[in-house]
Amino acid sequence: MTTSITAVDRDGTQHSLDWEEDQTLMEVLRDNDLPVLASCGGTASCATCHVFLEETVAERLGERSPDELELLEDAAGYRACGSRLACQIEHDQSLHGIRVELAPEN
Ligand code: FES
Repeated sequence: MTTSITAVDRDGTQHSLDWEEDQTLMEVLRDNDLPVLASCGGTASCATCHVFLEETVAERLGERSPDELELLEDAAGYRACGSRLACQIEHDQSLHGIRVELAPEN
């Protein structure tokens, strides 16, 4: 079964994207030409893949690592619950249908 998500661009445009099992959320966004720089290549050290998740989804994913949290707290628009680094989110079928919003650029 295909995992599909809705990504909301910084200008509010919505994109329906398929999420393959071998991709992180960052890779889904980047590979579909959304403006996610991912300059660290997915190693949780640049914060250019900062996204907002719905709070219920963020809660389900569990705690962020200390490194992820430290980067996010300095990122533009940081939200205590919904902010995540997309490169740290692995594919999971249970994430089918989620809505992901790109955070502002730093
Ligand atoms: S791609 Fe650099 S922190 Fe996610």
